[in-house]
Amino acid sequence: MRFPDRFAGKVALLTGSAATLKNELMGFGGATVWRFLEEGGRGVVITDVQDDVGERAAEQLREEGHDAIYLHLDVTNEDEWDKAVSSTIKHFGRIDILVNIAGILDPKSILDIEPAVWKKTMEISTVGVFLGTRAVARQMEKSGGGSIINLASMAAKQGSGSYGSAYSFSRGGMHNFTQSSALQLSGMGIRVNTIMPGWVHTPFTDYLYTDPEQSKYRTDRVPLGRWGEPEDIAAGILFLASDDSSYMTGAELLMDGGVSAGSVRPENPRSKD
Ligand SMILES: NC(=O)c1ccc[n+]([C@@H]2O[C@H](COP(=O)([O-])OP(=O)(O)OC[C@H]3O[C@@H](n4cnc5c(N)ncnc54)[C@H](O)[C@@H]3O)[C@@H](O)[C@H]2O)c1
Repeated sequence: MRFPDRFAGKVALLTGSAATLKNELMGFGGATVWRFLEEGGRGVVITDVQDDVGERAAEQLREEGHDAIYLHLDVTNEDEWDKAVSSTIKHFGRIDILVNIAGILDPKSILDIEPAVWKKTMEISTVGVFLGTRAVARQMEKSGGGSIINLASMAAKQGSGSYGSAYSFSRGGMHNFTQSSALQLSGMGIRVNTIMPGWVHTPFTDYLYTDPEQSKYRTDRVPLGRWGEPEDIAAGILFLASDDSSYMTGAELLMDGGVSAGSVRPENPRSKD
């Protein structure tokens, strides 16, 4: 179901959103951007560290008649945040929605992971979200308020046997920071919420999805019997971005096909080949 004018006049900035090209596998950012624009969004700012893909994505959006720009933004870099926000204001004059998507994952165990990779994983999900929140808050206030959506993971809710401890730790931290942001920014008209996706087929997980054994292992653990699609998560992101969620802040939206509800029966009838 589409809402034609849900985002009329609104501008969204998304981190880690280069995977937006229609002819390639999309990430959460891509699925969100296209639907946001279909539902009346005034424009989008795609940001990432993959400049080539990001530039091509913005170009494709412009070719389809949308107002879109691509900006290089390593979310761990404070100066790049300042530049991204000032370029957004220069181009669009406002910023209403921030979606923090950037992330990395190294599934190695506590004993095997390189400390530098562990730190980088933490830095992107925690420092990056902090810098982004600070960089946009005053501008959102000037536009009459806004919505910040932080992409955590179902891995945020428990310890990790297979995702890597930095990943689940950083995602848990992201949700805790979401709650602090919600409390501290509510007076500025800014709502802040977390989405916790389960296994979704995007560039992030393509290596698992395309490995028959890894893919089936996960499908068998999903009560709804399938991997998620980026559009499933985009629906949640846009719900939180819109006024439909105007009474939600500091909340978490779990979108994992039921994985976190508990163990499925060994013979899950929804996941038969
Ligand atoms: N796909 C899933 O199953 C799943 C599940 C739970 C959570 N997530 C989280 O959702 C987020 C989005 O992933 P996706 O599935 O859309 O895949 P994706 O690969 O399209 O998006 C992640 C993006 O982050 C970018 N990135 C990495 N380091 C960065 C940095 N320092 N600064 C800016 N950008 C950086 C990458 O270039 C990439 O484009 C990730 O943070 C991931 O942890 C994904």
